[in-house]
Amino acid sequence: MSTTTTPATATAAPRTFPTDFLWGTATAAYQIEGAAREGGRGPSIWDTYSHTPGRTQDGDTGDVACDHYHRWAEDVDHLARLGVGAYRLSISWPRVQPGGRGPLNPEGVAFYRRLLDTLRERGIRPFVTLYHWDLPQELEDAGGWANRDTALAFAEYARLMAGELGERVEMWTTLNEPWCSAYLGYGSGVHAPGRTEPEAALAAVHHLNLAHGLAVQAIRSVLPGAQTSITLNLHVIRPADPASEADADAVRKIDALANRAFLSPLLDGEYPQDLLDDTAHVTDWSFVRDGDLAEIRQPLDVLGINYYSTTKVRKFSGEGRPEQADGHKTTDASPWIGVTDVEFLRQPGPYTEMGWNIEPAGLTDLLLDVARRYPDVPLAVTENGAAFADEVTVDTAGRRRVHDERRVRYLRDHVEALGAARDAGADVRGYFAWSLMDNFEWSYGYSKRFGIIHVDYPTGERTWKDSAHWYARLAATGTLPEESEVEPVHA
Ligand code: FCB
Repeated sequence: MSTTTTPATATAAPRTFPTDFLWGTATAAYQIEGAAREGGRGPSIWDTYSHTPGRTQDGDTGDVACDHYHRWAEDVDHLARLGVGAYRLSISWPRVQPGGRGPLNPEGVAFYRRLLDTLRERGIRPFVTLYHWDLPQELEDAGGWANRDTALAFAEYARLMAGELGERVEMWTTLNEPWCSAYLGYGSGVHAPGRTEPEAALAAVHHLNLAHGLAVQAIRSVLPGAQTSITLNLHVIRPADPASEADADAVRKIDALANRAFLSPLLDGEYPQDLLDDTAHVTDWSFVRDGDLAEIRQPLDVLGINYYSTTKVRKFSGEGRPEQADGHKTTDASPWIGVTDVEFLRQPGPYTEMGWNIEPAGLTDLLLDVARRYPDVPLAVTENGAAFADEVTVDTAGRRRVHDERRVRYLRDHVEALGAARDAGADVRGYFAWSLMDNFEWSYGYSKRFGIIHVDYPTGERTWKDSAHWYARLAATGTLPEESEVEPVHA
C-alpha cells in the first residue's frame, strides 16, 4: 500500500491483461451433468459414495445436479454471453466407457462431441480434463487407484478420447487434483471411494502420476501436436513461527506430501528422498517400478494450478495427537499420510462459506514459487473462486439478481494477485473462475454455492449473479473492473 501524498481523488490506472490472456470458467462432469443413469452411463465411485448413507451432507447425490446433460445448449449460451475465451470441463469416464475398460458408449461420446463442436462454433476453446474424480466403479472394484492397472486403463481411455474428439480439444488435462483423489479418497476417506488405508493412498499417488505420464504419451501418439497439462491443487504452507526450525520442518513434511509428491516426479523425474524417508514406516514404495519415473516425466504445455486459500502449520511436540484447526484430531484416517507431529492452525479471516481463509497474496506467492522452481513451464490458474450463501432478489425492473459482493471482491483480489505475479515474472497465461454455476460440491452436496451463475435446484433455473456480470466485463475488456461494475450489460 502506498502511503505517499497522492491526492485521494487520483486513481491508479486499472490493471490490464494482454489480449491473448485466456479468461475462462470451470466445471466438472459429476458436479453438473446429472443424468446418472441415462445415455448408457455406467456407475462411478461418486455414485456409490454419494448413495452411501452418511457420506454426503443431507444425502445429496449427483443424480440430477444442474441437469447439464439436458441443458448443455443453454449453458453454452451462458458461456457465450459471458464472453469467455475458454471453458474447462471434464469428461465423465463412465459415460464414455462405462466399465473403465472395453467398448466405448457411442451415446456418451456423441454428447461430448456435440458439446465441444458447439463451444468451438461459439469461439470458446475447450480445456478438457479427462479425470475429475469419477472413476468407473468397476475399476474401483478391482482395486481403484491403489491398483497399477488403473493407470494403464486410464492411458487407454485417454488414447480413445484423443481419437474420438481430436482437434476439438484445445488443451488435454489428464488429472484434476490428484492430491484429492489419493489422500482424500484413500487416506482420510472424505471423498470417494472413502477408503482409509495409508499405504493405498501412497500407492494411489504413484499410480495417478503414472496415469498422467502414460496418458500424455497416449494422447500424443494419436495427436502429435496436442497440448497437454495436469492440474494440481498446490498448497501454500506457512510456518506458525517463521523463526522456528521445528516449524520449518513441519512445513517441509507437508510440502513433500502436498506438493513435491507430484511436482518432483512430473517435472524432475524423481520422488523426493525426504518424502520416501518420512513415509518409510507406511510403505517401502515398491509399487514404483523401474522405468516408471521416465514414463511420468513428460513435457507439459501448461501446469494448471487450483488455488483457494493457505495453510499454516506448527510442529507438535505434546502428548498424543494434535487437535487440528477443523476440530478433528490427526488420526490414522488423515490425509497427511505418516505425519503425526504437525498441527494445522486456524488462519486469520475473513473466511468463505467453506471456512477457508481468504488470502489473495497466497496466490502471488504460489505462482512465483512455482515459476522460480520451473521457469520454463507456462502456468494457468485452472480454478479459483469462493462459496458464499447467496440469495436471489428481484429488482425494481423485475429482474432476478444475486448481489454477491463478497464473491466479486474475492475474484477481483485474486485476479489482481495473479497480475502481481505476472508483473514479477511468472508466465501465467490464463485464469478460470470456479465455477460457471453452482453445483454438487462433493461431500458438501448442494450446500455450498461456488457459481458465478446461480442454480435453483428444484427448477434448474440459472440466474446471473453480480459476479457473472462483473466477470463478463473483465473477459470483454481484459481490464480489471471496479467492484461496483456489476450492472447487467445484456437486456
Ligand atoms: C476443487 C475441486 C472442484 C471444486 C472446488 C471447490 O478442489 O477441483 O471440483 O470442488 O475444489
